[in-house]
Amino acid sequence: AEQRTLVLIKPDAVKRGLIGEVLARLERKGLRVERMELRTMSSELSDAHYAEHVDRPFYPGLKAFMTSGPLVSLIAVGDEAIPVVRQLAGATDGRKAEAGTIRGDLSLSNQQNLIHASDSEESAKREIDLWFS
Ligand code: CMP
Repeated sequence: AEQRTLVLIKPDAVKRGLIGEVLARLERKGLRVERMELRTMSSELSDAHYAEHVDRPFYPGLKAFMTSGPLVSLIAVGDEAIPVVRQLAGATDGRKAEAGTIRGDLSLSNQQNLIHASDSEESAKREIDLWFS
């Protein structure tokens, strides 16, 4: 069934000139871009978006990174879009992500890992409301 998922092309991807590369992979898969915006994540939005991570030891570094410069937020739409984008992204740690995935091919980091994608229908709804209300 058709799903909508929130995708963030993270600040490392923007700085590295990889917006087009990431978008091309989503589009070539057959996903459609419904909304898209270049913006810088505020401290408040980071705390809300990463509510489940705010108490983790890695969160201060993650927040500093995610608010460090512009990112691209978008809604990707298509059949089973939520698991499909997660599969295209690959495992969180770019050093362990499978070759062929965005992170596996393009990232060597578990923090600067180029892309965020909602992990469930519940988080997709929450994150889309947060970014595009
Ligand atoms: P993301 O899919 O945006 O969801 C949570 C993010 O936290 C993840 O991508 C990584 O960028 C980051 N992250 C997860 N685990 C770690 C970790 N152990 N160290 C640093 N960053 C992490």
